[in-house]
Amino acid sequence: MKRMKGFICMTAPSLLWCFRKIVLRRNQLLCLLMIFGFCYFLMRPVDVIDPEDYPFNDLDLEDFLVDTNHCKILDFEPDDPEVMCHFERVTYKPCKPYPPFTTTHYNATTQRYVLNINASDPTNSMSCCYMGVERVNEMHVSYTPCVKFKSGTQLANTTESVIVKCRTEGVQVYINGHPTIPERSAVRQRLKHWAQKDRGKRVPSVLMIGIDSISRVNLIRAMPKTAQYLYDNDWFEMAGYNKVDDNTFPNLMALLVGYNLSTVMKHCNPYEISGLDKCDFIWKLFQKHGYVTAYGEDAVEINTFNYMKRGFQHPPVDYYMRPYLFAAEKLLEGTNVKGMPHCVGYATEAEHVYNYAQEFAKRYHNDSFFGFFWTNTHSHSDISQTSSMDEYLRDYMQQLVAQGTMENSIVVFFSDHGLRFGPTRSTWSGHMEERLPFLFIWLPEFLRNGNPEFEESMRLNYNRLTTPYDLHLTLKHILSLTGRAGSLEDLGGAKDCPQCQSLLLPVPLSRSCEDVAIEDHWCTCWPYERVYKNSKVVQQMAEHVVQYLNDYVKSFRQGSLAYLCQPLTLLSMSEAYKAYLMDMYPSNIEIYRLIFYTNPNKALYEATVRFNDLLPDNESLSVTGSVSRLNEYNGEADCLEDFTIKKYCYCKNTLL
Ligand SMILES: *[C@@H]1O[C@H](CO)[C@@H](O)[C@H](O)[C@H]1NC(C)=O
Ligand SMILES: *[C@@H]1O[C@H](CO)[C@@H](O)[C@H](O)[C@H]1NC(C)=O
Ligand SMILES: *[C@@H]1O[C@H](CO)[C@@H](O)[C@H](O)[C@H]1NC(C)=O
Ligand SMILES: *[C@@H]1O[C@H](CO)[C@@H](O)[C@H](O)[C@H]1NC(C)=O
Ligand SMILES: *[C@@H]1O[C@H](CO)[C@@H](O)[C@H](O)[C@H]1NC(C)=O
Repeated sequence: MKRMKGFICMTAPSLLWCFRKIVLRRNQLLCLLMIFGFCYFLMRPVDVIDPEDYPFNDLDLEDFLVDTNHCKILDFEPDDPEVMCHFERVTYKPCKPYPPFTTTHYNATTQRYVLNINASDPTNSMSCCYMGVERVNEMHVSYTPCVKFKSGTQLANTTESVIVKCRTEGVQVYINGHPTIPERSAVRQRLKHWAQKDRGKRVPSVLMIGIDSISRVNLIRAMPKTAQYLYDNDWFEMAGYNKVDDNTFPNLMALLVGYNLSTVMKHCNPYEISGLDKCDFIWKLFQKHGYVTAYGEDAVEINTFNYMKRGFQHPPVDYYMRPYLFAAEKLLEGTNVKGMPHCVGYATEAEHVYNYAQEFAKRYHNDSFFGFFWTNTHSHSDISQTSSMDEYLRDYMQQLVAQGTMENSIVVFFSDHGLRFGPTRSTWSGHMEERLPFLFIWLPEFLRNGNPEFEESMRLNYNRLTTPYDLHLTLKHILSLTGRAGSLEDLGGAKDCPQCQSLLLPVPLSRSCEDVAIEDHWCTCWPYERVYKNSKVVQQMAEHVVQYLNDYVKSFRQGSLAYLCQPLTLLSMSEAYKAYLMDMYPSNIEIYRLIFYTNPNKALYEATVRFNDLLPDNESLSVTGSVSRLNEYNGEADCLEDFTIKKYCYCKNTLL
């Protein structure tokens, strides 16, 4: 079995390349020869391989996810063998084989949370106490003194989360944590005030559940049950949802603020103290118009707004989960899986976030809420790990339905990009998957009934090129529908994508990547064909990119970091491709994708360059988007912190 996997991994890429060639009607002769060679190989008496194992015949390359005048995104199958050989289904394992000894529930009469001890447990010789967790800042929490309690203790409405400890004969035998969504007068007043102004008009809530690094195709591959559930239950999918930048932070900023990275740096620099507090996050706009807001994310070390950044000086939302998880990660027993924190006490990191999101949606079921919840831990490391959450997430969706959340809320289930590194990344599918995250949107019945044109647009947009900026505008559109905030125009567009628009309206057929702020490097709108990698032209272009990287590092932050890094040189070409632009661009434009190694860091980079024949020589070649790093850079970039240049810097003090 192992040998066969290795065999498929080795030969599949060239065959797939071949099939693509045939579809594009190029180099057919060479390809036919290769296929004959392959068939001969298969039919040798040794090594008999069942042709059924190769799903090539199912690969319908004529099919496009998006097929418009300026964008043709090839459809590709989740069972692509060059990816499947790196995929392995992972089974879900609960963190503990028994439920926690303590629980909390909200009592609507007293409007307080109650902390309970499981009384049926025989060992009630225990003595328990709880301490409240209080936020000091992003990197510190403090604890209130541990208060002894018996079952049925009411928690103060000023307590957001508690850590519970129990002892038997002086020895700690139990520790756990419980976050809550306490009732607060100021929030209730805001909700009441705006609800009165609505005069009975129904106002939708918004629940966003995002997962890091999952392509549309990997959702179908690794979470078939969850995906099937969404398809069977009238969720709207955007199959041409294309990321606009490399990693999580800029893609989420496009979605949450409508800014690209350079505008973020200018207006709300995440490296400055309280820089991010200045950003116009969409949750602020919802809060300003009478919504209660929440944000939760797992793995506090790598939180989107904290990893190598300053985070928020003030809690950015009404209910901010970070202090709780910060305390829980510190005090409860934890495990790691694939380099990511996994179990924290009785639940996984992600389950803490999902439970919190569910409780928030339940507590404010009859009110207008905006919740943003993000998980990193079960999907960040590879394409396989997330499969352990398939049944969990399908059941989770059903629990949201059961508690009535889908009746009042628009639910957005989405990712930021596909996997950005690892063995699958250098395959054709991996390249496409990195750029095409999944996006599903649920519209509640009352919105569909009141606005049949929304449903029609969403169906149409399934096959259109869409971006996180469009999602940003969709959220603004939803807010404008409430009648609380004026028209969509009044709320401002997505600053760095003037031609982007709400997904509740039909996206035009003529849309190109350029129209919607997707640079060539991230654009999936055209197929590529392989070109001779050692040609002079290709070499020159690669040299140009290396020069570009050196200049970029040299001038970064006014040159203040240049002295730390060794200049790079081109080591060798790995692959080279040319975009097959059909008639999407005038003939003076050519787009190349180059994959190459550099010295001294032995880095593997992927760059997209655009050649414009009509421009003067020194301007004709431009590097688009950013240059991707396809292999890891452990240890060689420790001399600096800044995530935007780490992947290009080989520290001068690195020991070989
Ligand atoms: C809520 O609290 C009230 C008053 O203490 C009590 O009568 C009621 O049984 C509690 N409800 C639940 C569900 O615990
Ligand atoms: C209480 O503890 C017992 C024994 O550990 C367990 O079987 C039961 O499921 C627990 N009940 C709850 C509600 O957690
Ligand atoms: C807690 O509840 C009391 C009333 O029971 C209320 O006066 C007080 O404002 C609440 N505290 C907060 C932080 O909302
Ligand atoms: C929402 O309203 C319904 C009907 O009035 C009520 O039964 C339910 O308890 C309320 N839910 C919450 C969370 O307030
Ligand atoms: C960000 O958007 C502005 C226009 O709003 C544009 O001038 C700039 O080049 C963009 N920056 C990046 C990195 O895309």
